[in-house]
Amino acid sequence: MNACSIRDLTKEYVLKSETVRALRGVSFDVPEGDYVAIMGPSGSGKSTLLNLLGCLDLPSSGELLLGTDNVATMTDDQLAEIRSRRIGFVFQSYNLIQQLTVVENIQVPLYYQGKLGPKERKRCIDLAQRVGLEDRLGHRPMQLSGGQQQRVAIARSLVNDPYFILADEATGNLDSKTTAEILALFDQLNSEGRTIIMVTHEDEVAERAKRIVRLRDGLLQSDEQNSMESRKEAAARGLELIPPEARGSLNDSLEVKA
Ligand SMILES: Nc1ncnc2c1ncn2[C@@H]1O[C@H](COP(=O)(O)OP(=O)(O)OP(=O)(O)O)[C@@H](O)[C@H]1O
Ligand SMILES: [Mg+2]
Repeated sequence: MNACSIRDLTKEYVLKSETVRALRGVSFDVPEGDYVAIMGPSGSGKSTLLNLLGCLDLPSSGELLLGTDNVATMTDDQLAEIRSRRIGFVFQSYNLIQQLTVVENIQVPLYYQGKLGPKERKRCIDLAQRVGLEDRLGHRPMQLSGGQQQRVAIARSLVNDPYFILADEATGNLDSKTTAEILALFDQLNSEGRTIIMVTHEDEVAERAKRIVRLRDGLLQSDEQNSMESRKEAAARGLELIPPEARGSLNDSLEVKA
């Protein structure tokens, strides 16, 4: 089963003076459980592609399937539902609500569904724990480091049990140690079966994924698997950046599964 698949996807931005062809016919499948890094020069269409996969925008032409559902046949309400319930977003700038605590931020996607009983609250606390923030539940974003804020965003992205996590430069604002922690968390989530699709500029980050898709001028330039060996080596280099006392269960991330 594919988490998503795209065929001849194009996106044109029509401006007054010109039409920008941001994607010019891109096709690939993302099987469930995959971990894909999307790379390419600035302006090559990475964010445009991620926005389409996240149903934040509609393609100009081509086909986008989420699971077996064709996005083209969905109503606006169905798209909004997919966006809020079936896709987890993680952005470079975290996008947390400053007035809310860690647990409340994780709960945000549930507010919109009017679904917030004791069971859901418990689930949000479990997720905070899952990303290593069990002793920060009542903190507000300002009281957290960048890496901790990104972990809140990752927990929030998981709250609806999404089809996949979409991450756009999720480690772009973080130092190398904090990046290593976030990538170890992604490794763990992926080894539990989560599908992850991330945009990154950094080779060292992309090296952690199962597969690297490269875009150039709105076209797919290459689509290659990372060898298990190079992934393990990259994970080991990452782990070395994390102080032993902060590693905790992150040691498991070395057990990169095929
Ligand atoms: N809303 C928009 N309106 C018009 N043009 C846009 C819009 N969004 C993106 N573009 C153009 O589409 C092309 C692809 O942009 P995109 O943001 O997808 O690139 P990117 O690969 O994510 O780049 P970066 O690495 O700099 O983030 C660029 O030429 C950009 O200027
Ligand atoms: Mg971008």
